[in-house]
Amino acid sequence: MKNENKFYITTPIYYVNDVPHIGHAYTTVAADVLARYWRLRGHEVFFLTGLDEHGQKVQQAAAKAGIDPQAHCDKLAPQFENLWRKLSISNDAFIRTTDVQHKQVVQQYLQELFGKQLIYKADYSGWYCTFDERFWTEKDVADGLCPDCKRPVEKLSEHNYFFKMGQYQDRLIEHIKKHDRFIRPESRRNEVLGFLTTQTLGDLSISRPKSRLSWGIELPFDTNYVTYVWFDALVNYISALEYLPRGNPASNRFWPANVHLVGKDILTTHAVYWSTMLMALDLPLPETIFAHGWWTVDGEKMSKSRGNVIDPNKIVETYGVDAFRYFLLREVPFGQDGDFSEHAMIRRVNSDLANGIGNLLSRTLTMIDRSYEGKIPSVPQNYLVGKLAEENYPLLVHARNSLLTLGNQLVYSFQDFEFNNLLLHITSRVSDVDTFIDQHKPWNLAKDQSKREELSAVLYTAAECLRILSLYLYPMMPNTAKSIADQLGIAVDFDSPLLKANVKWGELQSGTKTRKAAALFPRVEFATSDSISRGIKEKVAVRKIDLSGKGVKPVSDTPAPPQPTTPASTMPAPATPPQITIDEFMKVQLRTAKILSAERVPKSEKLIKLQVSLGDEQRQIVAGIGKKYEPDALVGKTIVIVANLKPAKLMGIESQGMVLAAGDTDVRGLLTIQEEVDAGTKVK
Ligand code: MSP
Repeated sequence: MKNENKFYITTPIYYVNDVPHIGHAYTTVAADVLARYWRLRGHEVFFLTGLDEHGQKVQQAAAKAGIDPQAHCDKLAPQFENLWRKLSISNDAFIRTTDVQHKQVVQQYLQELFGKQLIYKADYSGWYCTFDERFWTEKDVADGLCPDCKRPVEKLSEHNYFFKMGQYQDRLIEHIKKHDRFIRPESRRNEVLGFLTTQTLGDLSISRPKSRLSWGIELPFDTNYVTYVWFDALVNYISALEYLPRGNPASNRFWPANVHLVGKDILTTHAVYWSTMLMALDLPLPETIFAHGWWTVDGEKMSKSRGNVIDPNKIVETYGVDAFRYFLLREVPFGQDGDFSEHAMIRRVNSDLANGIGNLLSRTLTMIDRSYEGKIPSVPQNYLVGKLAEENYPLLVHARNSLLTLGNQLVYSFQDFEFNNLLLHITSRVSDVDTFIDQHKPWNLAKDQSKREELSAVLYTAAECLRILSLYLYPMMPNTAKSIADQLGIAVDFDSPLLKANVKWGELQSGTKTRKAAALFPRVEFATSDSISRGIKEKVAVRKIDLSGKGVKPVSDTPAPPQPTTPASTMPAPATPPQITIDEFMKVQLRTAKILSAERVPKSEKLIKLQVSLGDEQRQIVAGIGKKYEPDALVGKTIVIVANLKPAKLMGIESQGMVLAAGDTDVRGLLTIQEEVDAGTKVK
């Protein structure tokens, strides 16, 4: 009986001929998103990934390393497993095709097909490509080169065992036509159908003589041969169910798979080889095989010889795991090719994440800190209900309603593998919340006792929206979701089926003590030296992170900037800031300065007049830090100033330099020096 309440998803099993790269990370992250989503929906999920350890590629890589193939696999396997931990991959099992139990299942299937006379022995002669591990016919091979990888092919003549694949051609065509979700996306489905309806499907050679390749699973009916690596590898999707799920074998429960995620290059092996193998074994076919596109790097094909293979570990170390997951999922529609560049990565982090959800959480909690001592405010009676609410709080009502209907919209995007749309829906909700915050201007409401009710309505709504957003973000960005919940001060069990029932409004309890922490996504400045994609192996891109998440900004020459009418996160993505050379940067003279005295500038809320010592000279600087600091608290501090700025007058008072502080529209903290250094010391 079909089990509607389970979800079995697989990634390809990766060859262990080298360390994992961004392409491997891509499929695995995408599979993880779906696994996490369906768990939240209350399905029993089995998420499988693993390694393809047999075959020529692995044998050759081991020979090159001068070690035995098994030792080679054992050495590389942890690199994959560790990367999956680092990328927060929640796979339920990790298969290695050298597992004894897997080998037994492969041999059992081979024997079964041999017994049914669906495997036969024949002479074979053709052009063999060692790299692709496959034969080509005369007409495929032009100029002695493999049509696929363009490497030289060799003429080989040998006895081999063949699987009678050809006889399933019509059945396969019919299956594809009948099941429009079987091969996705649509364009790939048409490609496979086009090929199957115009060419004759031949039989498949499923053995390799041991004299040529010894690293494989022996044929149970002829020990002079090992199994062709694809026959061995594809079987993993079922063999894993026999021995990897905890408890009883789970093939009855989980097969057929709901989704095999694969790259476009291995669609044929899945859609044609695997499907016909399953037909021959009288097993049902998977529901969906989804072929995604390939990543290039800075517009070029990724390859070892070009030295541009992206190490996902480095990206995670540099930008953080959720930022990397976000980039992979958001940058290109799943199914299409994409290009990785650090530039694009940084743009996403800054414009989508730091300015988006990161800023929203930070500003909401800051305002709750300031106005409610960090506790979630209580909710005014019926504040989002009825006609009055529509009149008084239309934007709040809109944000609330759009979050409550978000789940239904996302279902389709999850079902259709539209990860970029999922994230777009979510970021547009973030903008909705930012918009109502800006409209209601809680920073002004906070100054007026009679506006207390409106203030708590705005801040409660923002916090509750963040709570709900965290639930929907979880499949894509699990660490961010947890951090939002933590900072809101609530315990959320993300392992429970939180999205099984409709999300309810108002579960965030008033009085909950929030715990504002570091910015979710610190802004990243553009690298000026090497970049990951240009093949730094050791050197990580030079980045300067502003831990406040707001950017380091000079403040002395900016008298009370007006409150922006558009929040940062609803503005169009800012244009990439122009890069400057080191020479340009060196023109700016930064020095430490000791504050000798400080006093407010009359009639200004923000400006404070400072007398500072630079060791050999004294200066007067007017700084816009008066909302954050009382003058007395500043005296004696060693701060950082721009020392070679042309003097300017602020409210008629000359300022001979500029103080550096973190913050955007609001000053959040002065740059100070932790150690004791002399006033006037250069800062570089
Ligand atoms: N071992 C086989 C799969 C057997 S599945 C029963 C294999 N392994 S692989 O390591 O070579 O490739 C694994 C996956 O990585 C494939 O889905 C492939 O499409 C993907 N990618 C390899 N390079 C890639 C990019 N540059 N971009 C995106 N994915 C890429 O094939």
